Amino acid sequence: VSKGAAGPTERGFIGVGLLGMGVVGTGVAEALSIHGSFLQESVGLPLKLQGILVRDAGRSRSALVDSSLITTQSKDVLENPEVDIVIELMGGEDAALPAIRGTLADGRSVVTGNKEVMAKHGAGLLAMARAKGASLKFEAAVGGAIPVISALERGVTGARVRALRAIINGTTNYILTRMAVEGMAFEDALSDAQAQGYAEADPGNDINGTDAAYKLAVLATLAYGSPVSPESIYCEGIGHLTPRDFRYAHDLGYAIKLLAIAKEIGDGELDVRVHPAFIASDAQLAKVDGVYNAVQFDSDSAGELLLYGRGAGSGPTTSAVLSDLIEVARRLTGHGGPQSRQTPGTGSRVRPIDELDFRYYLRLTVSDQPGVLAAIARILGDASISIASVIQQEVDETAGSAEIVITTHRARESALRDATGKLTALDVVREIGSIIRVEE
Ligand SMILES: NC(=O)c1ccc[n+]([C@@H]2O[C@H](COP(=O)([O-])OP(=O)(O)OC[C@H]3O[C@@H](n4cnc5c(N)ncnc54)[C@H](OP(=O)(O)O)[C@@H]3O)[C@@H](O)[C@H]2O)c1
Repeated sequence: VSKGAAGPTERGFIGVGLLGMGVVGTGVAEALSIHGSFLQESVGLPLKLQGILVRDAGRSRSALVDSSLITTQSKDVLENPEVDIVIELMGGEDAALPAIRGTLADGRSVVTGNKEVMAKHGAGLLAMARAKGASLKFEAAVGGAIPVISALERGVTGARVRALRAIINGTTNYILTRMAVEGMAFEDALSDAQAQGYAEADPGNDINGTDAAYKLAVLATLAYGSPVSPESIYCEGIGHLTPRDFRYAHDLGYAIKLLAIAKEIGDGELDVRVHPAFIASDAQLAKVDGVYNAVQFDSDSAGELLLYGRGAGSGPTTSAVLSDLIEVARRLTGHGGPQSRQTPGTGSRVRPIDELDFRYYLRLTVSDQPGVLAAIARILGDASISIASVIQQEVDETAGSAEIVITTHRARESALRDATGKLTALDVVREIGSIIRVEE
């Protein structure tokens, strides 16, 4: 707060500035406009919206929100001395990062739902918040209404998180569920997700795993007290999966999910990755369907813990923003608890995927002729990859091709990559349709 300006107690209210009034910002603006008195009960002072930054002044907005608060000038919100807390819900880096930095530099607190900014700049921003005595809260950045950030900040698992496995992208989970249950092709399931409003017009960051990798970077950084950058996370999307893979997975006793995984693997190293994975169909995460999200922790004292809920949408995300807002506001009125565990320590190495071992599912289209399986087995054997099971099906008699599905025992990723290069070069192998890791 600028020098000489009255603080919230002298002023008699906590001033809130909102950046962005889209899907989530509208929910937050409406809640602050309607439920002020409920929030006052939990905070001790009323929370008053002082300004709302948007890009397009001409757009029609919620009638529940005082339109005189809306502005296209960031200074109206950021330089208003009666704004104690800034809620950033614009998304992206360009406008959001300088706004968050500037607010924290002023010693004022920020609540954000911005996974991209937190994934790329979270460690620095949290250090800045601490240095300035401000709070930076970001529950809405991961898992919508699921209180996964506060679980990690408050050490709900009691001790170290050995591993976390999560389904943290509702769009892809919806698509995978339709593919699994109805045998839909990827493109059809994506169109359906768009028609239902579960996928954006440009779904690229969801489909290719980037959104999940941003969220995983935020979770892994908190879980292991060590900055994990999104670039260090191996990331593979779901666009190459076919209905056949889901049928084979089902027959073999598995579900296919886009998993975000972070594990401690000893020697100060972490295994952090996002990719479609086979998981046993009786595992809890295998039952998380549709747009739901879930985060499963394995910890040494609490054992296994599953947080499950709606991962996106206006209502769930608004609730996450409001819970952060109440916590920050309570701190301003002296009712808050201690600052959460926010400062990451230094450097764990993320072990490259090539140096990790997995079991694999491989689906190959091959010429329907004798000796094919032996040739494939020889290449895998030479790479020290041992076969766990084989399914061979005749697919297309006229084309003279058959489909072979192989599951392997644990093998090094680099060995598998070398072997698949050699398999592709075999005359009898027409195509390697899918390679999917099995998460045990
Ligand atoms: N939607 C969800 O379910 C969800 C879930 C979890 C987290 N989040 C996160 O919450 C944030 C907001 O998401 P959203 O879905 O609410 O986004 P959105 O619907 O696209 O809304 C963005 C809002 O920010 C404003 N805005 C964008 N860039 C701006 C700029 N440069 N200057 C001024 N205003 C700007 C837009 O103004 P106009 O209205 O004038 O266009 C709009 O009001 C994102 O970080 C997102 O990742 C969203």
